[in-house]
Amino acid sequence: MDIEKRMDELIDIINNASYEYYVNDNPGITDQEYDDYYNELLKLESKYPKLKRTDSPTIRVGGQVVDKFEKVTHDAPMLSFDDIFNEDEIVSFDERIRKACPNACYTLEPKMDGLSGSLLYEKGVLVRAATRGDGVIGENITHNVKTIKSVPLKLNKPIDIEVRGEIYMSKKSFEKCNEQRKKDNEPLFANPRNAAAGSVRQLDSSIAAKRGLDFMAYFLPNPDKYGIKTQSEALEFLKELGFVTNYKLNGIAKNVKDIINYIDDLSSKRKSLPYEIDGVVLKVNSLDDEAKLGTTQRVPRWGIAYKFPAEEVLTTLKEIKFTVGRTGKITPNAIFSPVHVAGSIVSKATLHNEDYCVEKDVRVGDVVSIRKAGDVIPEVVEVKKERRTGNEVPFKMIENCPMCDSKLVKEDSNYFCKNDLCPARKIESLIHFASRDTMNIDGLGERIIEDFYNMGFIKDISDIYRLENHKEDLIELEGFGEKSVNNLLESIEKSKSNSLEKVLFALGIRHVGKKTAKILAKRYKNIDNLFNASLEELTNVNDVGEIIAKSIKSYLDNLENQKLIEELKELGLNFEYLNANTDDKLEGMTFVLTGTLEKYKREELTKILEDKGAKVTSSVTKKTTGVIVGDKPGSKYDKALKLGVKIYKEEDIENIIN
Ligand code: IVH
Repeated sequence: MDIEKRMDELIDIINNASYEYYVNDNPGITDQEYDDYYNELLKLESKYPKLKRTDSPTIRVGGQVVDKFEKVTHDAPMLSFDDIFNEDEIVSFDERIRKACPNACYTLEPKMDGLSGSLLYEKGVLVRAATRGDGVIGENITHNVKTIKSVPLKLNKPIDIEVRGEIYMSKKSFEKCNEQRKKDNEPLFANPRNAAAGSVRQLDSSIAAKRGLDFMAYFLPNPDKYGIKTQSEALEFLKELGFVTNYKLNGIAKNVKDIINYIDDLSSKRKSLPYEIDGVVLKVNSLDDEAKLGTTQRVPRWGIAYKFPAEEVLTTLKEIKFTVGRTGKITPNAIFSPVHVAGSIVSKATLHNEDYCVEKDVRVGDVVSIRKAGDVIPEVVEVKKERRTGNEVPFKMIENCPMCDSKLVKEDSNYFCKNDLCPARKIESLIHFASRDTMNIDGLGERIIEDFYNMGFIKDISDIYRLENHKEDLIELEGFGEKSVNNLLESIEKSKSNSLEKVLFALGIRHVGKKTAKILAKRYKNIDNLFNASLEELTNVNDVGEIIAKSIKSYLDNLENQKLIEELKELGLNFEYLNANTDDKLEGMTFVLTGTLEKYKREELTKILEDKGAKVTSSVTKKTTGVIVGDKPGSKYDKALKLGVKIYKEEDIENIIN
């Protein structure tokens, strides 16, 4: 038999088997058969080296060594998209697109977490592969890319074409690679992206060959050359040519709601995928729309990269700062360079207490990973000890209050400042008193309380209700004026008529949170009854127990506190339970109001909903229970429609309430 013909035949069989395996996820032959064909080809190539083809699949074992990375100028610049991080930014992106292209729809693709690469084929044969570099000039990495099994060395059509996509390392290969590095005493790669980038930047291609890289195609720079009209057609065409595309996970969206659903769905699959993704890439599907939208100096306007909220990010610990809470509890906090975590920028995280710091052995200068606990309070999860340089400063617990210098007292795992006059404790308790969940005094936020405290206007809770005596002075303050002072005094006045549970929570009695305050208010109806309750009786109240009961008793027995409550009563504060007939039917629901209602004033309706346990907020997210829409609604209505949030009209309000 003609040797050359048999070698061609073997290459076709092997390429076809790879195509079925990598592109269609459908192995057509068994591993054993594959190995037999592959070994037969290897044997023939070693016996007849002159007949070995340059696009033979056996070259994937690597071995080619280059002495440097040649520079490659991209025919068209290799751009990347702007990043966005939340729903609001998706809505804005969609609005921007729709202004120019009202009927646009999008392709949605997993954002592969690797590095982008450009592959150039001539007459269907891979001739050059390059990194993105600075977008204009990249580096020639052909020798390494040729070892990637999911890169076709020869296409199913003999055409000239450039294809772009992501070079990445699967989770499995990454684990294997780091295991090997551990054995060899080499530094570990932090993540698959770094491992992939490190592998394509090897001069000897046998290293990349061993690392098990992969390639996912997602972009065709010159689609019109091939008569292609949409991005989905481009992806289909790439698949036909022999490229691995993400055809099972890619999607199409007609509107923001589809986009959000896709993101949710992909997020839930993320952990089980065999490779890392870090978001979703949105591209307008129609290439006419793409051309119409064009590119700014920096980025294409026709697409965007939505990044998943990073659950954990790395940053450098710059300082450990101790803060004093309203109970006097000292908390060490990690201060670091600002980073994006779970959708927002953070620069501070709690380190809880001394035990936590000692157990984790946190040191200033350490690289640490940050996570949002329960997606709200950022905390330091892990110290990257392997990244220490030796210059890090070990943690040392302070012995005196950072504010008033009094000696700290240790109780269980925590240290406390026991000085009742400590300014930090005072300020924190004032902040707590005025905050949304307690007395809800609009205009009396953290910064203003701190300023008023330092200027001597408010030294104590009761001083809040004497602020009107300083009205003229306040009006003169920078950033204030008659109107804002009037508003502030008005909301202070309004807070006087809060129901008992609000003020009970606001007083800051140790262990009495929102829920306990409500239980106590419901049970005792007014503060005098609470004063008269014995320790035993309090202990027997459902959900209260001994520790809380003791704490309430000791608070109420304290003469200073009794004096404060007397003063507050004299200043006109209500200490009665006012919500006897209310229910919590709407607990856990969130509503947004937009437009003008006929029967209700906005404030009135807000109060009715809140009294029933609902939250009323100003921005619509997919978690919003419903948007109540009046006449001439604003953009919140559009957003609700886009996100598929339930819309209620004025006539539905009674139904909601009842
Ligand atoms: S399209 C003009 N599609 O994410 C940009 N990029 O900015 C064309 N990436 O640097 C890129 N998955 O490395 C595209 N399905 C995907 C992608 C993807 C990952 C990377 C790419 C680029 C960045 C997007």
